[in-house]
Amino acid sequence: SLQGVLFDLDGVIVDTAKLHFLAWKAVSDENGLHFDEEVNQRLLGVSREASLEIILEHNKVSWPDDKKKQVLKQKNKAYVASLDTLTPDDVYPGMRELLVDLKKNSIKTALASASKNAEIVCLKLGILDLFDAVADVRKVQVSKPEPDIFLAAAEQIGVWYTNCIGVEDAKAGITAIKKAGMKAVGIGTEQGLPEADAVLSDTRELTLDFLQKVIES
Ligand code: G6P
Ligand code: MG
Repeated sequence: SLQGVLFDLDGVIVDTAKLHFLAWKAVSDENGLHFDEEVNQRLLGVSREASLEIILEHNKVSWPDDKKKQVLKQKNKAYVASLDTLTPDDVYPGMRELLVDLKKNSIKTALASASKNAEIVCLKLGILDLFDAVADVRKVQVSKPEPDIFLAAAEQIGVWYTNCIGVEDAKAGITAIKKAGMKAVGIGTEQGLPEADAVLSDTRELTLDFLQKVIES
């Protein structure tokens, strides 16, 4: 039975993907790197460090570690500054209502985001207190598509993995959920997320009723 729901953040609860894109674009321009929407697609759900590696590989350049460190800092500064524009209105339609509904029904919720800024984002959106736990990505050794962050999130809310559903917009995230042995709901297209147990294009359709059906399927 459904006892826990584990949420990715960027692209599931809020459209921060465009803010990550703008920060990477600014940093790439400044450093003479090519970066576009197509490369950005490959960064969804991927850690900051791994994202830079993808951009460098795309540009066929390799940088020394100190240069990488400096640029990672620069990117995060630009991203965090852009979070000033976030308000509670930026929560995707229906998501706040779902979190409230899950709480009312004693179903535990946890964040399983690869972002080190997950808490700040949730604070800005006014939804941090709607989660029972936030899995700490700093303590997780391997990132999505490995299952670790979802397993850590399930453990933090004390729910056995078979009673959890994970919600993700990124391909790497769906793979991580499936590797954790959990049911996976994708936010996006069936074409883009073929591994998911169910896919929704509109977050308004992500209801408790829907999640109950997925866990029973
Ligand atoms: C999420 C986003 C990625 C981002 C990652 C790290 O998974 O989908 O695009 O790179 O978090 O975010 P951070 O805030 O730690 O740089
Ligand atoms: Mg995401």
